[in-house]
Amino acid sequence: MEIKDNKNLYIETYGCQMNLSDSEIVGSIMAEEGYKTSDAAENADIIFINTCSIRDNAEKRIRKRLREIKKMKKANPDLKVGILGCMAERLKQQLLDEEEVVDLIVGPDAYRDLPNLIKTVESGRRAINVLLSEDETYSEIEPVRLGSNNISAFISIMRGCENFCTYCVVPFTRGKERSRDPETILNEAQDLVAKGYKEVTLLGQNVNSYTWENNGKSLSFPELIAKVAAVSPELRVRFATSHPKDISDELIKTIAKTPNICNAIHLPIQSGSNTVLKRMNRKYTREWYMDRITTIKKYIPECGLSTDIIAGFCGETEEEHKETLALMEWVGYDYAFMFKYSERPNTIAQKKFVDDVPEDVKSSRLTEIIALQQELALRSNKENIGKTFEVLVEGFSKRSDADLAGRNSQNKMLVFPKRNFKVGDYVLVKVTSCTAATLIGEAV
Ligand code: 5AD
Ligand code: SF4
Repeated sequence: MEIKDNKNLYIETYGCQMNLSDSEIVGSIMAEEGYKTSDAAENADIIFINTCSIRDNAEKRIRKRLREIKKMKKANPDLKVGILGCMAERLKQQLLDEEEVVDLIVGPDAYRDLPNLIKTVESGRRAINVLLSEDETYSEIEPVRLGSNNISAFISIMRGCENFCTYCVVPFTRGKERSRDPETILNEAQDLVAKGYKEVTLLGQNVNSYTWENNGKSLSFPELIAKVAAVSPELRVRFATSHPKDISDELIKTIAKTPNICNAIHLPIQSGSNTVLKRMNRKYTREWYMDRITTIKKYIPECGLSTDIIAGFCGETEEEHKETLALMEWVGYDYAFMFKYSERPNTIAQKKFVDDVPEDVKSSRLTEIIALQQELALRSNKENIGKTFEVLVEGFSKRSDADLAGRNSQNKMLVFPKRNFKVGDYVLVKVTSCTAATLIGEAV
């Protein structure tokens, strides 16, 4: 690599795991241009904000952050500011017009153009590239690992989404679905193992849509994940996210029979009501979803289950909301991400439906959902008392340096006294007590 001036880049990432993974690709592309990623905004020559558009409050947070950065730029006029990711893609030129502090706008498929864009910015002009691509997967770019514990890493395996759930901006901000060359995925996994990593999470907006065609042969997601798991028995493999419409028996059986594929499935339900699911264009019914859960529990009895839920989608009645609560109870989720519906400009729902559930009703439904989930998590954790789990140590417990913290295969967090164990160890831990969020135990 040619050595250029060493400049500092600070990347701040909002939103999903996919964005974290993209920031690591951006870090790698910028390293080639002589930019070192630093972990403080204060001494940066350039600040990138990798943004999320999924809900209005995500965008509001970023606008607020831009006001703070404006002050930093006043103190240091040479500071450059770039907006990456979904908000860059959604707002395009409008964001340059509205935010005087911004020098650079780059959409999720345009990061390879950063070296050119940066030259423009360095010469004092503003730059923008928001072209979406049908084939960009950044396949051979070796990500820099940002804020990593050197134990777990993300591997992006596919990009984009074509499901067009009516509430969602992602198909518009991240474009068409495309899968990454499996050879480059396996190389990345091998490289991580060689560096001492113990866990990878295969990422995609809809991992089950992964498919790679080569010489008339095709590779499916279950086949890919089995290959990744075969890289090393010491490597834990996770994945996110699956769409319920295409979580196949083959995938469930592959997880069941492969010891180092973690027994944890994130399966966003969004709503437990068929009429709401239809308005959301989720393409499955409550019954279909229940059948998938039954199949998961049949083949993987100890499977950790988590979900995403939206409260107060357009036209949602009290009865429809109750169906969501009933389904949550039936599944008994270990964990859930729970949101109030937030109307997004230019989505199908915004064009077709009225955002008619009053804010206070959305709030009270969300409160009920959160309270129920709290109960379900506590119930599920209590059932684990007395059981022993293999835990991969990720770091110290938040509360005390005398305790270590790590996850079991089901993706539950366990905390236990440190003794002589260290980060990266696999430790057998017997659960002695719990809260709704954490299992507490002792190494055995
Ligand atoms: N409003 C609220 N939540 C949303 N999600 C996606 N779009 C919206 C929206 N407009 C949630 C879904 C999705 C998760 C990533 O974010 O639950 O699974
Ligand atoms: Fe990720 Fe979706 Fe947010 Fe984009 S809009 S950052 S894809 S969660």
